[in-house]
Amino acid sequence: MELPVIDLNAFLQGSRCEEDCRNLANVLRQYGAAAIYDPRVEQRDGDRFLDMMERYFEQPTEVKLKDARPELYYQVGVTPEFTEEPRDNSAYAEKLSTKNKPTPFQGKDCKWRFQWRMGPRPECSKYPELEAEPVIPQGFPEWPTIMNTWGEKLLATGFAIAEMLAFGLDLPRDAFVRLLSRGSHLLAPTGVDVDKYEVGHVVAGFHYDLNFITLHGKARYPGLFIWTREGIRIPCKVPDGCLLVQVGAQLEYLTGGYLEKGFHEVVITEQAKQKAKECKSHWRVSSTLFVHVQVDSILQPLGHFQHNELAKQYYSPIEAGAQVAQELQAIQLKNTT
Ligand SMILES: [Fe+2]
Repeated sequence: MELPVIDLNAFLQGSRCEEDCRNLANVLRQYGAAAIYDPRVEQRDGDRFLDMMERYFEQPTEVKLKDARPELYYQVGVTPEFTEEPRDNSAYAEKLSTKNKPTPFQGKDCKWRFQWRMGPRPECSKYPELEAEPVIPQGFPEWPTIMNTWGEKLLATGFAIAEMLAFGLDLPRDAFVRLLSRGSHLLAPTGVDVDKYEVGHVVAGFHYDLNFITLHGKARYPGLFIWTREGIRIPCKVPDGCLLVQVGAQLEYLTGGYLEKGFHEVVITEQAKQKAKECKSHWRVSSTLFVHVQVDSILQPLGHFQHNELAKQYYSPIEAGAQVAQELQAIQLKNTT
């Protein structure tokens, strides 16, 4: 099945579009994800971005490793394969029925990732590593232009979604947007060589995203599976011309669990192997943007979500930067020593 589509047209034309906003909230509550149509996002920007990223990931390992910044917890530049390890989500997975269990997997993800910071930064912050200068790979003079063009489109979509969602959840319209202003948003494409692994191999183990929402352009290869609120595992199918949005841990926090972070995994599938026969590059690239709450802002349930008893129990106030640091430690990107 294809995910329900939320069309941003009416919102962007200044209409109240209450029904679209409530529909967005309901779809995100049910699926932890939605397909989004934003007329401002053009396929050719996504294609230019994917073409460049395929060329980047196709480079030899030793060339890509020059772009790694472990001292900054890989929050800019490249994260090599077998670095990130999904945190232990077995308590959640155990509750799933047999046919909806995650694909068996242990250890570190075989995906590469490149992170590029988007948008203006705060003038000073308690979390300087989350505000680091970008890395520009050698031999890619077009890098900043292509990254920023694509990233700004996704970011604009992300802010529109945040405003619509606040309205759809009966919060002030700027409830989320004011927290996202000057956030450490990251354009963070992943890459994996489809030829290198067998069908069934896990590229990104069962996990959720630590940020507010995640946006993706449509990938050229299948392989992403998501879990609905009821714990049903479905292949993520996004209609042509649409983007994908997923709920991250920060949005769950701000709604006191009304919206739940969306679990997902990426697996090499038979369909991906078939697709490789017709694609120029055999690297599966995701065009991912992580939209983040500004690091010095407090995460806590907003508005009417504060009054829920569970919210008080499970979502006590925490600085977004501290929450991000905890999550990065849990997935082995930030050493505790
Ligand atoms: Fe993810």
